[in-house]
Amino acid sequence: MAGIRWPPEDPDLIHTRATQTVTASDLISDDDRSVAADSWSIKSDYGSTLDDDQRHVDASELLSTCNLHAASDYSSDKEAPDANEVEPSVLGLQSYWDDTYVEDLANFHQHGHAGEVWFGADVMDTVATWSRRLCIDFNHDENTSVGTGGESESSDEVDKDLSRWNVLDIGTGNGLLLHEMKKQGFTNLTGTDYSETGINLARSLATHNGHTDINFLVDDILDSKLEKQFNLVLDKGTLDAIGLHPEGPARRIMYWESVSKLIAPGGILVITSCNHTKDELLEEVENFNQKTSQDSQNEAGNSSDFQYLDHVQTYPTIMFGGIEGSRVATVAFLHG
Ligand SMILES: C[S@@+](CC[C@H](N)C(=O)[O-])C[C@H]1O[C@@H](n2cnc3c(N)ncnc32)[C@H](O)[C@@H]1O
Repeated sequence: MAGIRWPPEDPDLIHTRATQTVTASDLISDDDRSVAADSWSIKSDYGSTLDDDQRHVDASELLSTCNLHAASDYSSDKEAPDANEVEPSVLGLQSYWDDTYVEDLANFHQHGHAGEVWFGADVMDTVATWSRRLCIDFNHDENTSVGTGGESESSDEVDKDLSRWNVLDIGTGNGLLLHEMKKQGFTNLTGTDYSETGINLARSLATHNGHTDINFLVDDILDSKLEKQFNLVLDKGTLDAIGLHPEGPARRIMYWESVSKLIAPGGILVITSCNHTKDELLEEVENFNQKTSQDSQNEAGNSSDFQYLDHVQTYPTIMFGGIEGSRVATVAFLHG
């Protein structure tokens, strides 16, 4: 695998993907940021200020250059994944995101644009509605000996159930996913990002849309200062970005260590990636579980294990080179 892969959803929305090899000390030019943003985004429903001519490329060109993922359900015969194979990119550097959000914040103030919806509005909606269903089913299964899916619950009961989930969105960026989570009935919402300007943008958008009850905090997930734990942790594109740092593989291990401290026992992590399949994420988690188990072999049980719960199966798939692939994977893990 090489860099972030981004199969097309709609030819009008297709962007090229750059996989630029960088070192942490590289300076990022405006051109770098433009190319990188084009390489990894779908135009926001809320509008975007990047030049459309720059963004849009011919579908066949992209199809011939992009590196499709086999969909998780179809990838059982692929070679063993290796996170080390992802090439570093400017998207792994904080300076890239700081500069991006300075620009996005200025665009919001000047033009009312909210910036990018990473992976597109459909994926964001799916993550929010699917997470809601997951939590309702999970509540229901906990409260009954035989789970029936929770469909028969009254809306008051559902609202009550959802209010007990405190939600953390790691690497929240403009925070729009949390707006969707609020629309789904979640009330206890926190978004963190290591980019202060990203958090300023998220706060501005939340205020603009009347969501002042959403908490936004500057926090680096790899060195988190958060002291409380959360029942539901979301990550849409953040582990992907972390993996694109020149020290991506080591940072991904740090990520799992940090996330395992932030999720309450019995809590859920919902992770959305365009750079790793469901099976690759499962393997990464299994490696982490084994490492944790070895590190704590004298302690009782594997209390920080992540167990696979479910994954989104409704994302559209496309065929490329005889392989059926989906452009994104969303996987839920239960934290032990
Ligand atoms: C691809 S963007 C996704 C933003 C948002 N989750 C979304 O879906 O729109 C990746 C985000 O992760 C943030 N990020 C990357 N590394 C991080 C870290 N170590 N700690 C916190 N945030 C990080 C970036 O600042 C950026 O906002």
